[in-house]
Amino acid sequence: MHHFHYQDGELWAEDVKVTDLAERYETPLYVYSAATLKRHFQAFDSAFNRPHLCCFSVKSNSNLSILKLLGQFGAGMDIVSGGELHRALTAGIDPHKIVFSGVGKQKHEIQAALMADILIFNIESVQELYQLSEQAQFLGKTARISLRINPDIDPQTHPYISTGLEQNKFGIDISQALETYRLAQQLPGIDPIGIDCHIGSQLTKISPFLDALERLKDLYNQLSEQDIHIKYLDLGGGLGIPYSEETPPHPVELGQALTKSLQGYDLTLILEPGRVISGNAGILVTRVLFFKQSKTKNFVVIDAAMNDLIRPSLYNAYHRVDEVVPQGRDEQSVDIVGPICETGDFLAQDRLIPQVSPGELLAVYTAGAYGFTMSSQYNSRPRAAEVLIDGDQSYLIRRREIYQDLMALEKPYLDGEGGTM
Ligand code: LLP
Repeated sequence: MHHFHYQDGELWAEDVKVTDLAERYETPLYVYSAATLKRHFQAFDSAFNRPHLCCFSVKSNSNLSILKLLGQFGAGMDIVSGGELHRALTAGIDPHKIVFSGVGKQKHEIQAALMADILIFNIESVQELYQLSEQAQFLGKTARISLRINPDIDPQTHPYISTGLEQNKFGIDISQALETYRLAQQLPGIDPIGIDCHIGSQLTKISPFLDALERLKDLYNQLSEQDIHIKYLDLGGGLGIPYSEETPPHPVELGQALTKSLQGYDLTLILEPGRVISGNAGILVTRVLFFKQSKTKNFVVIDAAMNDLIRPSLYNAYHRVDEVVPQGRDEQSVDIVGPICETGDFLAQDRLIPQVSPGELLAVYTAGAYGFTMSSQYNSRPRAAEVLIDGDQSYLIRRREIYQDLMALEKPYLDGEGGTM
């Protein structure tokens, strides 16, 4: 459920006309709905009827205003870099609600997280564990950790977003978990208090979550026997959403299944939802530039491109595209493409949409997760603006980049001046 709807013949974001937004802020434009974010977070959070903490996955949408808003609803944050830590802290998130994953944490990132006293480091290798122990001692801190376990479960999703299979780079092989926990227990500055895993993204079934949980519960029982006392079990993110025909389970189904499976376990469950909170809370609004026909194809050329939303190009992902002001015209099959000089620059291929004309607006749905955060300036295209809608108000939460932004960090090379070495 989201708060983008058609009324009086056009698309509205909550109580604001999308045509007015495009007029005011221009296109391409990311539009987010505060009511949808709230609804999604609360639906997810209230689905777990046991001690738990929902840490929003910052990588899915890292705009400060969005993080702040979710923080106000009680969200913690799942981060994977020093930059995301900085964002979460700037948004006022309680460090005791921050968990830090990632296979390649750097010294400066580890130090910043230790200084902030985050809740848990999710450790992905033995070398990282040593590194953390060294840094914790250096700073006179104790690092609370979970080992991120690779449970070797097939999440049945796109291979690029599967993370819990033996051949993936993530986590510690479950067969090495016990010895690594023993090591963690002995290392100075390390307090092993959790077990973590994240098996993949856009999961449309509950069974992979439950299979992973069974393996983690086994591990928990073995650790208890060895007097290693685990307080947190983090099952990661990954719950899918409907982009097209998918029918992922409702958070309540997932919540009930996990709660049932964890009955009798004295653990705080941590979840790291990203897409399920932010995905349907955002659309990308774009204007049609041209329509052209070749012998075999119809192309709708729009002002948004793969630099704005890379998911179709990268994963062949489906995003629904609809007119902002429907006219009831016949449909035709088109490729919806951007201005970037790549054949892979498309937002949709062989898609049936009404015959649209230059100047008209289109809405690309389900763009709130991994949309803006994966955008770039490729082809020297300034990044799009982001607006947040709350009722009948719109807030510019990131201004459109301008040409100076493209070159702000560059310095002209002047022969013979300013060199080093
Ligand atoms: N926790 C960890 C450790 C993760 O790596 C991820 C996502 C999440 C949580 C959140 O997963 P979610 O609930 O959003 O599925 N760019 C891809 C998705 C990559 C996901 C990477 N990790 C896409 O656009 O589909």
